[in-house]
Amino acid sequence: MNGKRILLIIGGGIAAYKSLELIRRFGKAGASVRAILTRAGAQFVTPLSVGALSGDTVYQDLFDLTDEAQMGHIALSRAADLVVVAPATADLMAKMAHGRADDLASTVLMATDKPVLVAPAMNVRMWEHKATVRNAQTLTKDGIHFVGPAQGDMACGEHGFGRMAEPEEIFTAAQNLLGAKGPLDGRHIIITSGPTHEAIDPVRYIANRSSGRQGSAIAEALAARGAQVSFITGPVNIEPPRGVQVIRVQSARDMEKAVQAALPADVAIFAAAVADWRVKNADTQKIKKDGGALPALALEENPDILAGVSALGADKRPKLVIGFAAETEDVLAHARAKKARKKCDWLLANDVSGDCFGSEDNQIIFLGAKEEHWPKMRKSDVAERLAHKIITALGEEENNKK
Ligand code: C5P
Repeated sequence: MNGKRILLIIGGGIAAYKSLELIRRFGKAGASVRAILTRAGAQFVTPLSVGALSGDTVYQDLFDLTDEAQMGHIALSRAADLVVVAPATADLMAKMAHGRADDLASTVLMATDKPVLVAPAMNVRMWEHKATVRNAQTLTKDGIHFVGPAQGDMACGEHGFGRMAEPEEIFTAAQNLLGAKGPLDGRHIIITSGPTHEAIDPVRYIANRSSGRQGSAIAEALAARGAQVSFITGPVNIEPPRGVQVIRVQSARDMEKAVQAALPADVAIFAAAVADWRVKNADTQKIKKDGGALPALALEENPDILAGVSALGADKRPKLVIGFAAETEDVLAHARAKKARKKCDWLLANDVSGDCFGSEDNQIIFLGAKEEHWPKMRKSDVAERLAHKIITALGEEENNKK
């Protein structure tokens, strides 16, 4: 991002306070930010705080002589590498979709020849309103890029889609649009995810409640930072993550083969809920209910994929091997024992006695060199935090080599 110029348009939504954090994030990455604050935006954040963070003039009025003397609105729209609209209100989106230009923000958006990234933020009903849906479709057809909105609790007390994407997500989307290299560029990361299905016969199987959401979120967070991700997933009902190579498997043994085929890697993350056992001599034909003796299922143990990769020799072992532990009781004690037994570098433990499976939230105890109790957060935020830790760890390892 070094030297990149961002023109940030701050619309009138409660999420405007997050745009202040976004300005800092761009600044930290070496980009410069020039801000336009709409009249409604100025109800939520002050020009003073925006200007203090951006270190530049904050532009507000189309017909302000001083502003126009400093930099005319056409020049303003061109003197940027990327235009980011955050928060983008329903009204701003409507103006953009219809080509209206009745204030500085909308005029600049019409005059610009640069890519535009929009981060919508509004009440769920407004986001789902037919007019907004239509406008978002028009804008997408016009080549406007979107990030979010996310699902979650809103300032108005409702719940649903409409929450502005987090600053870090907007930053990553901007980084991708600018073609900037991510911190994980050139790194190969293997992730296992979802449940496995162990056949009983051709129509029946043993499975578990894993939704694959946490693994997917991690894959997407790492890919967004430039990693080449081999995403090995058991059967799930969710959309595959974007920007990764998806390898679909059924059983634990398929998953193990796929992991071996994907090696070598810099990092391997085992988020899959692998079945511990498979059915010995699974039938090749459907087992019939013939009124006789009930079928007895004999089980045998599946390979432990994580333990196998942890035990690889130094030349083949990924630099970081990360496991998960889903527990229903005594989470910490079981997790500590599991980390020692499987010899992984980090282990993320969570309590699945509640509503973790299929839900958007997760609460993690992180076992690394130190133990950390993370607060309950969205699975996408767990992914962000883990991605951050991985980047730091790989950076330290690189420094140690020098
Ligand atoms: O099922 P268990 O609690 O032992 O899983 C802990 C960790 O080990 C998880 O990261 C899981 O993906 C991994 N695992 C595996 N192969 C197995 C069982 C578990 O890779 N057969």
